[in-house]
Amino acid sequence: MTNPLTTLPVPVVQAPMAGGPSTPALAVAVARAGGLGMLAAGYKTARAMADEIREVAGHTDRFGVNLFVPERDPSDPAALAAYARALAPAAAELGVPAPEPGEYVDDEYPAKLDHLTAHPVPLVSFTFGLPTAADVARLREAGSAVVLNATDEREVEAAARLHPDAIVVQGSEAGGHRATHGQAAEPQDVTTADLLSAARELTDIPLVAAGGVAGRGAAADLRARGAAAVQVGTLFLAAAEAGTKPAHRGALLSGEHEGTVVTRAFSGRPARALRNRFTERMAGEQVAGYPQVHYMTAPLRAASVDDAAGLNLWAGTGFAACRDTTAADVVELFRGL
Ligand SMILES: Cc1cc2nc3c(=O)[nH]c(=O)nc-3n(C[C@H](O)[C@H](O)[C@H](O)COP(=O)(O)O)c2cc1C
Repeated sequence: MTNPLTTLPVPVVQAPMAGGPSTPALAVAVARAGGLGMLAAGYKTARAMADEIREVAGHTDRFGVNLFVPERDPSDPAALAAYARALAPAAAELGVPAPEPGEYVDDEYPAKLDHLTAHPVPLVSFTFGLPTAADVARLREAGSAVVLNATDEREVEAAARLHPDAIVVQGSEAGGHRATHGQAAEPQDVTTADLLSAARELTDIPLVAAGGVAGRGAAADLRARGAAAVQVGTLFLAAAEAGTKPAHRGALLSGEHEGTVVTRAFSGRPARALRNRFTERMAGEQVAGYPQVHYMTAPLRAASVDDAAGLNLWAGTGFAACRDTTAADVVELFRGL
């Protein structure tokens, strides 16, 4: 089996972006331009994941699917109840029912794995933790490359012990959720470049560098430090083929936002977003409450769909480089590196 990550015409992976931005059209456009397109299975049913795979597989085999590993660290019911109370005033202002902590849900992870084993795709990546060795083995036997995420040296070592085809090293600049292997961990403040260099010392497994890659210069530096490819999220959020909400896209392109913040306010897991009214309002109330907090804030986010002040505006530190463009133009930035 050839490793799809070390044979890319252009060494760029379009980050899987759950919650709407990742679309089959985005994955196909990236693949056609020479990068690796990724589908985000997180928050979707196994059936919806299967439908998207069918759509993309009709056009390209340069793609992969990303799964959320079930949470290792359970949420504390008392902390969830306290967060529900803290959300109540914001919910009332928006005219949505007072939030209540729901049950833990596993994102249909077992059904997704079963589907991917029975109907293999070229590559499967995992975030929020590590799959079991048995699940890695069955996916590889089915013919898929397996890619794991890590946010610090300890996680790189843990990922390497599973002998994946590549490890995504995600530095603190990254937009969206940090990929920490348990929600209780406070993510390390290590840059993508430093984490990549440290990881290069620890393992010979191909490394994909993610976080704050805002253009060709940053990518060239990461390639020189030994990255097989870069994984880019934020720049693709403004691409025409992305399913990014208009208010999110507008905020990224407006040039008006001062900066980003790492917050648990939207989902209970640390994630980097543009600072806005919601992140400021909830700054003192953060709990490790994934995935229940994600579902508690869902009605508030839905009621704020046109209001950037109340949305989860995921963004990496390089968001100012976002342009109103196409996925192919973003891929082109990285050609020849
Ligand atoms: C909107 C958004 C959604 C994301 N969703 C996922 C996801 O579903 N799975 C995943 O592994 N990473 C996800 N990430 C993280 C990316 O894989 C990647 O680490 C990050 O985008 C890289 O940093 P950058 O945004 O500065 O390019 C997401 C990032 C963003 C911006």
